[in-house]
Amino acid sequence: MTIDWAVSGWGRPGSALAVGSGRQGLGLLARWCRSTGISTVLAPAFCCTTMITPFWLEGMSVRFVAVDERLVMDADSLRTARAGHDGPVAVLVARTGGSGPSPRLRAELAATRRDGGLVIDDATHAILADTASGARPSWCDASLASLRKLLPVADGALVHVRDGIGLESDLAVPGQNPPGEVLALRGDLPVLARGEPQRPFPSGAGRYLDALARAEAHFDESLSPTAPSTVTRRVLGDLDGDALARRTAQNAHVLAGALSGSGARMINPGVPGPLLLRTTRAPAIDAELAAHGIFSPMDWTRPGAVDAALWPGDVLALDTRPIAGLDDAAMHDWLRFTAEIIRKWD
Ligand SMILES: Cc1ncc(COP(=O)(O)O)c(C=O)c1O
Repeated sequence: MTIDWAVSGWGRPGSALAVGSGRQGLGLLARWCRSTGISTVLAPAFCCTTMITPFWLEGMSVRFVAVDERLVMDADSLRTARAGHDGPVAVLVARTGGSGPSPRLRAELAATRRDGGLVIDDATHAILADTASGARPSWCDASLASLRKLLPVADGALVHVRDGIGLESDLAVPGQNPPGEVLALRGDLPVLARGEPQRPFPSGAGRYLDALARAEAHFDESLSPTAPSTVTRRVLGDLDGDALARRTAQNAHVLAGALSGSGARMINPGVPGPLLLRTTRAPAIDAELAAHGIFSPMDWTRPGAVDAALWPGDVLALDTRPIAGLDDAAMHDWLRFTAEIIRKWD
């Protein structure tokens, strides 16, 4: 399956829209919330600041809700948060590590929607699973996925909304450049030039990291909706989403196999996305992996507004994306090496 439909804009089943970044997509959804009178969003306490900023920028009040063992919003905590608020709310559910809402959370989300609230799915970590299965979650009103976390692109995001949610009026700001279409220096990622032994970055992967850095440097300056960059649209048009999902899942499977029986708890083995572990040694292991050139795919620092007691400090995120130019056998060897480093901490 290709996802070339993603670049065609509105009019496809489920109203799909491609924009320049996840922030832009979330900003559109935040504006829609405001236009319907919703001014509070309940967000997962384990989150990336960039997921939350668009709601703050629209003047919404953000309240943080505890996550469960799998790092997805906790159902009881959502119920408590809703009970403490009068009027409809938006609930942002992040499918962190590709894990979906528990049955109890789904029931709570259904109650939120019955009460006039809006449920937004952040599918950034689930985009490959959704692409491969062709499925869209039915428990939400809108789904948003930043693309550059799992797909080989430097910018772009997809937004799907159910019928009745109109984002069109906020689109089309002429003269805006997509964030991925600007220049920055390779020096944006200086850490890649230090430390031995290094992860075997083929030159293609190095160029990709450069492009990511160029885009990232301009994401916060490009919050008005744009299209994804020209290159991203071309890549999406040619991308074999099934093959990418299969290879990513296979990498996750190899890594999970090599870690099986270790002291770390794996919370999403086999998912075509980052492999997430929970271990009290996470910060030290993360630092040792980085010294070998193995970088976490989730650079999530606790936003100042999130209570430290709600923040899980024991999460280790491991990259399972294929590396451009590296064949699967070499990638699997590298993942087994990664597992050896982690197992030393048992
Ligand atoms: C889960 C998640 N959602 C949304 C975003 C925002 O996406 P973008 O960086 O494309 O603006 C991020 C960014 O890191 C993220 O991790």
